[in-house]
Amino acid sequence: MEIKVDISRAKSSAVTKEHGVTPADLKAIEPLVLAAHKRMQTDRKNKTYGFYDLYKDKATLSAVKKMARSFKNKGIDNLVVLGIGGSALGITTLFTALKSPYHNLLSKEERNGIPKLFVMDNVDPATFAEMMRICTPENSLYNVISKSGGTAETLSQFLIVLEELKNSLGGDALKDHLVVTMSPPVKGAKASPLQHFQKKYDLPVFHIPLNVGGRFSVFTPVGLFPAAIMGMDVDTLFKGCRAMDKRTSKASLMDNPAYLRAAIHYILCFNKNKSMSVMLPYSDKLCDVSDWYRQIWAESLGKIVPATDEIAQYHVGMTPIKALGVTDQHSQLQLYLEGPNDKLLTVLEETKFDTKLTIPEGDKAVKSAAYLSGKTMNQLMAAERKATVDSLRECDRPVIQVKFPKVNEETIAQFLYMLEVETAMAGHLFGIDPFDQPAVELIKNFTRKNMGA
Ligand code: PA5
Repeated sequence: MEIKVDISRAKSSAVTKEHGVTPADLKAIEPLVLAAHKRMQTDRKNKTYGFYDLYKDKATLSAVKKMARSFKNKGIDNLVVLGIGGSALGITTLFTALKSPYHNLLSKEERNGIPKLFVMDNVDPATFAEMMRICTPENSLYNVISKSGGTAETLSQFLIVLEELKNSLGGDALKDHLVVTMSPPVKGAKASPLQHFQKKYDLPVFHIPLNVGGRFSVFTPVGLFPAAIMGMDVDTLFKGCRAMDKRTSKASLMDNPAYLRAAIHYILCFNKNKSMSVMLPYSDKLCDVSDWYRQIWAESLGKIVPATDEIAQYHVGMTPIKALGVTDQHSQLQLYLEGPNDKLLTVLEETKFDTKLTIPEGDKAVKSAAYLSGKTMNQLMAAERKATVDSLRECDRPVIQVKFPKVNEETIAQFLYMLEVETAMAGHLFGIDPFDQPAVELIKNFTRKNMGA
């Protein structure tokens, strides 16, 4: 089962030359892509960046499954993830894509004993206090996730939870309610606060490989452990990565969907004034994929290109925008169709929904509603998506379409893996390092300072 990337509506044969990619544009970028491909392959071989090969790590996969099994009979009814940014968005995306949209509202029986999930990726005191009230310590498992082990938001959440667990269940119970996911200790380096606490209380722990950054970590225990606890098929996630790795390892631009998407973004950004990239899924299951994309694209690619002898420093980055079909047809689409022609859209299609829902005949006397009767909501969704894609063409707006034969572990993993490779390629094309986040670190430092550190 494969996702398909269709670029036909981003080409100058579908929209005008001024807004679409021409064969000459693609030809011209080929040498750049090839050079970047070679650098990426070297980085991969040297293990400078580790996200490419995570799916080959069978030992981690079995450790994750084993730990998840060990919590099965411990009466856990809530899984609470404490983490932010790359430590939170992966599991949120998988949860929305792979579980019932109302999972947390289902009875325990309907959930097959799988816990409810709470992802705490903010420090709003009202939300956090309410979570603490609802998720009583005795039936909750807290997975604290921080690669650096020192992020103020995650640390503050952890300290609140730790205190509550100690007070209500006692120190001996901590191991049954807390799992830490963090960087491994490095010889000679100062231990992070989280490493310190993990050691002090001897808490169960997973390590995030040092060569994998937060937003590239969904296929490490950061995403895998909560996914396994939530009953997702983690083996099939790896299968999806493997299938996409095959496609995105190809050197040829036209055969590599990740390179193609990166190149089209680059061409349209620099040559055709497209400064924004909208992700528009026609599927509720895929709605948080847009959030995940927004983070990986913004945090990786919004950067300063340093000055050289010839050129002063300049800023790059296409603004990623989250949208949802059909909801945004009654909102943002007006802007996308008639506002400035400064966006490239990616429309996601769920070709086969798990459910078929027929619209009943209703009242025959109301003739103006008759065109709906007997049709399915599935048909309506498809018709709306097609209407949007056709309207975008009519208004000379470029679109890439991605088709999911079904949304499941295999296809969602393919898509996330493709976006990771695409981001790495885009970083090379835009001439920046996609794996650092100096401005995010700047805010983290100011936050610590503002809190008196
Ligand atoms: O992608 C990133 O590097 C960030 O979004 C981090 O994931 C986020 O800042 C949280 O960092 P940490 O996992 O170190 O707490």
